[in-house]
Amino acid sequence: MASDGVPRKVGVVGYGRLGQSLVSHLLTQGPELGLELVFVWNRDPGRMAGSVPPSLQLQNLAALRERHPDLVVEVAHPQIIQKSGAQILRYANLLVGSPSALADQATEQRLLEASRRWDHAVFVARGALWGTEDITRLDAAGGLQSLRVTMATHPDGFRLEGPLAAVLSTGHRTVLYEGPVRGLCPFAPRNSNTMAAAALAAPSLGFDRVVGVLVADLSLTDRHVVDVELSGPPGPTGRSFAVHTHRENPAEPGAVTGSATVTAFWRSLLGCCQLPSRPGIHLC
Ligand SMILES: NC(=O)c1ccc[n+]([C@@H]2O[C@H](COP(=O)([O-])OP(=O)(O)OC[C@H]3O[C@@H](n4cnc5c(N)ncnc54)[C@H](O)[C@@H]3O)[C@@H](O)[C@H]2O)c1
Repeated sequence: MASDGVPRKVGVVGYGRLGQSLVSHLLTQGPELGLELVFVWNRDPGRMAGSVPPSLQLQNLAALRERHPDLVVEVAHPQIIQKSGAQILRYANLLVGSPSALADQATEQRLLEASRRWDHAVFVARGALWGTEDITRLDAAGGLQSLRVTMATHPDGFRLEGPLAAVLSTGHRTVLYEGPVRGLCPFAPRNSNTMAAAALAAPSLGFDRVVGVLVADLSLTDRHVVDVELSGPPGPTGRSFAVHTHRENPAEPGAVTGSATVTAFWRSLLGCCQLPSRPGIHLC
């Protein structure tokens, strides 16, 4: 709810697994939380038929200003952020659900410029990244030396492009990519969002020094597994501070989003509605 008691107007871009869940939450719980759903846009409008009230269906994304949103939530594809993110910021704060788009430096720059110019915030959903605040704090204190995010699931859960699409899973567990997150995002745009969120949480390392590892594992038919490993510089005894989290998230076979991540997105939406509209990129 806005501080003046006026409901915040929220638009949703994308009506897949995440979009449907957020729209359902907004329709059922939004009014009591001071949130009003003002539009839903999907590339294929037919998908909204029967579940999104016709008056809320937006046929043309370029017409979103007519709905006067305070916040636009992107849960579609990084391409939407790359093509339309800066334009959306002209009219509203933006909650980015596909932060792999920001691995493209020109896109990140365009969003930052639009954010400053129109005085709107770019919020980034932490999604499946566990420990986001801790990573950010450690980074800000100069205590982060390395950060590595490994995402493993069944090969059916991947939507890979370019050279990665041609990599064959040869065994039970195959490492498809290991290297800077920036190099992975263009080829796994829908499976690198957690790593992209880590790169944004740790700006001292960023997309070029946070390491992403993508693993195809035939045994992981029903879950997504994310390991976050980080270390600080060696202390006086020569030992380093180190953290390793291991997150197992149940997921429908073949889905790009696990069930706990759907809940995390709703919390991110609620969370960013409580934050001030400050220019810049903010994880939530
Ligand atoms: N930050 C994270 O940790 C995290 C976690 C899960 C998913 N995501 C991302 O959130 C987004 C939505 O996830 P989902 O599980 O709802 O996916 P989904 O496949 O269920 O739905 C995606 C929706 O976007 C539409 N779409 C697909 N490609 C598009 C394009 N190029 N342009 C416009 N629309 C397009 C589809 O028609 C569909 O309605 C994806 O980009 C996904 O990678 C991020």
